[in-house]
Order: sequence, then structure tokens, then C-alpha cells
Amino acid sequence: MQDYQDKVVAITGAAHGIGAELARRYGLAGARLALADIDGPTLDEVAAKLEADGVVVRTTVLDVRDAAAVEAFAADAFEAFGGVDIFCNNAGVISAGTIWAEPLADWRWTLDVNVLGLVHGIRAFVPRMNAQDRVCHVVDTASIAGLLVVENSPAYVASKFAALSLTEVLDLQLQQIGSKIVVHAVCPAIVQTDLDRCNDYRRSDEYDPTDPYYATEDYQRRWAVVSGSLPLGMPVADAVSTIVAGIEDDVFLILTHPAYNPAVSGRVAALLTGAHPTLVKR
Ligand SMILES: NC(=O)c1ccc[n+]([C@@H]2O[C@H](COP(=O)([O-])OP(=O)(O)OC[C@H]3O[C@@H](n4cnc5c(N)ncnc54)[C@H](O)[C@@H]3O)[C@@H](O)[C@H]2O)c1
Repeated sequence: MQDYQDKVVAITGAAHGIGAELARRYGLAGARLALADIDGPTLDEVAAKLEADGVVVRTTVLDVRDAAAVEAFAADAFEAFGGVDIFCNNAGVISAGTIWAEPLADWRWTLDVNVLGLVHGIRAFVPRMNAQDRVCHVVDTASIAGLLVVENSPAYVASKFAALSLTEVLDLQLQQIGSKIVVHAVCPAIVQTDLDRCNDYRRSDEYDPTDPYYATEDYQRRWAVVSGSLPLGMPVADAVSTIVAGIEDDVFLILTHPAYNPAVSGRVAALLTGAHPTLVKR
């Protein structure tokens, strides 16, 4: 890993999982950090640990669905640190269900966080990073679920296809204006994180855990695939090593689990034959 002394890294979704490990990795390599998350108490714990190791950290508690709050996060990072070298647009959530049965609230929440949350990050950070007129990086976290269709989490898959495609458009539009921002799309498969705890931070006026759908066998079975697979995933430290290396090596599509590459190319090849989708083998 390179030396990040004098660099500034801003991360959304920094309290848990991939975001917290990115913060630890860049902080211990010398970067100053601007960290944001919806889970304030855990974000404070992450910051306190890093500060004990001498890392300079600023924290912001926000919901990435709130464009004004993300704008204020970017303004604070630029004002406090004078610039941002790497912006990790990372916060995300997951839901599960059958398309026509899952509560609409789940659809709105998943798409708002995973798609509009990224858009808010881009709107807040990209103009400021362009104005720096030096090489810097925007890193959007999508997912292998932006390249492969899995059947249990339709809103998540839809959101991650959107996340990946909007990141490709971002790269093209920045190339068109000769920007020095380098864009990356991170597409992990399963990583051992707290992603299945995302319902804990939902607003009570937007999420009713007593909705009868959540008691159905259909939901329970689909959600069990999500929560049962995470502990079997790649250790977060290994995934973050690949992500950091991909950013340093100018990789656009950062794939942490190359074992899925044949399934990705197989999906495209099969679609071009006119065949209907088939389940991804796990
Ligand atoms: N873990 C996996 O298997 C996996 C696979 C592919 C992609 N991803 C993606 O990686 C990213 C990070 O997820 P993770 O796996 O580290 O999960 P995680 O739950 O451990 O971390 C996500 C972080 O985002 C925060 N967050 C959630 N909603 C937010 C909101 N509205 N506003 C601000 N912060 C919010 C959470 O509090 C948490 O700290 C997500 O975009 C996720 O979709 C994860």
C-alpha cells in the first residue's frame, strides 16, 4: 500500500464493514479522514480507535438520502482539510423479497440509499474535486449484483445495476470534460460485513417491522439467504486489500471475487442467445 501522508480520504458508510476497514487502512497509512454514517455511536467508536492511533478524523452523522446533509459533509471536508484525494461513495443497504409482494417501503429505501445516495455523493464531491484540478479518485461501491442477477433481492439487484451504470456514465462524462478525477466501481461478491443489520437504522415512520409480509415463509426464506451467506463471505480485510490495490492501479471495475467472472461473461453470452435467465450457481 502506498503512503497516504498529506492525503485526505472521505468515506460514506464508514461505521461498519467495508467503509470502516477502508477508513482504518487509509488512516493507518497516513491519510486524514472525513467519515460519515447514519449510525452515529458506532461511527464515534471507529473514529476513537483511529484517533488513539494518531489519525486525524472528522465525523458526520447523516443519511445519504438527504442531499443537503451530503452537501454539508463535502463542504466540511473541503473546508477542514483543504481538499479530498479519495471519495468512497460506499454506504449501502440490502432488502429481500418477491417483487410483487415486498413492501414498497423496502423498494423506496433500497433504491434511495443505493442509487440516490450515490448521486448525492457525486453531486456534492465531484464539482469540488474537479475544481482541485489534480488527480483524485471517486470510488462508487456497486456490487457483483450489478453484473449478475440473483433472485432473492430484487430491489438490491436493481439498485446495483443502476449504481454500476451510473458510475460508468460518470466516468464517460468526466472524460468528456478532461477531468483529472479517476473513477472506480467496486463490485464485491459476498464479504463478511454487517450488511444484514441495515434494518436497524431505518426510520420508524418508513419501516414497519410488524408488516405481515416479513412473517411469510417467502420473505423468511429469501432473507435467510442474505443473512446466512454474509458470514461465509470473504473477510473484509481481504476485500479491502483488493479495493485499495485497484484504486492505486487505476482499475475501473474492481472485482474482489474473480471466481464469479465466468458467470458474468456467461450471463452476457446467454442473454445474446435470447435465452431466459437462469439461476446463478452458488
Ligand atoms: N457485504 C457484501 O457482501 C457486499 C457485497 C457487494 C457489495 N456490497 C456493498 O458494499 C457497501 C458497504 O456495505 P457493507 O457490506 O460494508 O455493509 P455494512 O452494513 O457493514 O456497512 C454499510 C454502512 O453504511 C451505513 N449506512 C446504511 N444506510 C445508510 C444511510 N442511509 N446513510 C448513511 N449511511 C448508511 C451503515 O450504517 C454501515 O455503516 C454497500 O454499498 C454494499 O451494498 C457489500
